[in-house]
Amino acid sequence: MSQNPLAIIVLAAGQGTRMKSRLPKVLHQIGGRSLVGHVLSTAQHLGADHIEVVVRHERDQVVAALADQYPNAVIVDQDEIPGTGRAVQVALDALPVGFEGDVLVLSGDVPLLESDTLEALITGHRAAAAAATLLSARLGDPTGYGRVIRGADGIVERIVEQKDASPEEAAVTEINAGVYVFRAADLRRSIAQIDQNNAQGELYLTDVIGLLRGAARPVAAEVAADAASTFGINDRAQLAEAGRVLNQRIVRRWQREGVTIVDPATTWIDDDATLAPDVTILPHTQILRATVIAAGATIGPDTTLVDCEVGEDAVVKRTDATLAVIGAAATVGPFSFLRPGTVLGAGGKIGAYVETKNAQIGEGSKVPHLSYVGDATIGRHVNLGASTITANYDDVNKHRTEIGDEVHTGSHTVLVAPVRLGAGAKTGAGAVVRKDVPAGALAMSVAPQRNIEGWVEKNRAGTGAADAATRERSAE
Ligand code: UD1
Ligand code: CA
Repeated sequence: MSQNPLAIIVLAAGQGTRMKSRLPKVLHQIGGRSLVGHVLSTAQHLGADHIEVVVRHERDQVVAALADQYPNAVIVDQDEIPGTGRAVQVALDALPVGFEGDVLVLSGDVPLLESDTLEALITGHRAAAAAATLLSARLGDPTGYGRVIRGADGIVERIVEQKDASPEEAAVTEINAGVYVFRAADLRRSIAQIDQNNAQGELYLTDVIGLLRGAARPVAAEVAADAASTFGINDRAQLAEAGRVLNQRIVRRWQREGVTIVDPATTWIDDDATLAPDVTILPHTQILRATVIAAGATIGPDTTLVDCEVGEDAVVKRTDATLAVIGAAATVGPFSFLRPGTVLGAGGKIGAYVETKNAQIGEGSKVPHLSYVGDATIGRHVNLGASTITANYDDVNKHRTEIGDEVHTGSHTVLVAPVRLGAGAKTGAGAVVRKDVPAGALAMSVAPQRNIEGWVEKNRAGTGAADAATRERSAE
């Protein structure tokens, strides 16, 4: 699509009052990305010569959020004059002098549009040599949107905002999606003529349509095939609804790629996640941010993975993990908590009620039950006995624990860091290990057991315990 220069203007300066939020509306997220981020990601596909984002409300926060991911978007500041028309005026002024071509206007709060819809809009606009082409949709409930008013001949006459609409106009169910392509020259000429004589006292971009028609310029409208893709987000209910629609799309995309998703309604997958064929996702599972899951892995039920990497054929159930790497054929869960920096080797295991953090656990090594492993490097084929703990924090500093290959710890071992266990070392049950253990040594720190014969019958006479003890001893 390189016939005519293309400029894209993304409107993101509004306050978003109806969100009732400290966060600017366009920074609220669905599918792991901000609303305006979705719009810009889509815009990137259109091969535009210029992309501008108009900001004002909480502008620094919006600019900071966009800086990393969309460095090619030019920030344009709107002044105190309100309205979408004003936003486009300042954006036009910021384009290179003499820009002639097409101007695509997108709303920062309409996140579900896909690039092929926009490409078709631009192509249709160019083919018809229209002055303006707007995207409309037919909605069962048009409340809140501008209505597209057509003449008896079916040609678009103007757009009227809900707050300015007569009852007959409000009854129209064809809405303005807030997305338009204009010929730059036509847009410049007509947007200079809009005024604030309306219910909201704003400069409405939508008034341009009526002005162009008044000047006998050709205006076209494309009705979106998928009305849901035109959803505009003004409040939290619409935010959740758009999130659901986006998730449905993402789920369907991965199903077509060979991923089994048992319960789409309770599976949430962010836009940036990547799943290989033959992955199985069980119910109530969230695959978030840039998580990558390799072929054959089974995730869930009840699992949340944030920025994780899961190897082939791994099994991860009832787990909460962030910035963790889980090796091929490893097993995690149920009820495991993997914090950032956890790296579990191939065939390894992190089991029930285990918390890990900044821990490299070697190939085939197991932390099966009730453990905390933090700031540790663990070799291969290690087995940590139930409830082995790394005591990594001395109230002031964090220290590391190093464990060599083939080490086995007894149940309830406390490894007081900094400490090192050499290859093949063992610890006795309940050991508190404060000193390094050489390779192949057995570390014991519990005092030898002492039995005081007859203590219960003497000190607890008449209790069930004493009676039971007497019975057992006399039976011997
Ligand atoms: C707008 C349209 C309406 C359309 C709807 C589609 C106008 C006058 N109305 O209404 O016809 O049906 O979108 O979703 O255009 N913005 C600025 N500067 C401002 C005001 C808003 O950049 O001064 C931005 C907002 O951040 C937002 C977008 O423009 O991203 C739309 O603004 P909003 O106030 O949500 O307009 P709507 O009332 O939804
Ligand atoms: Ca809106």
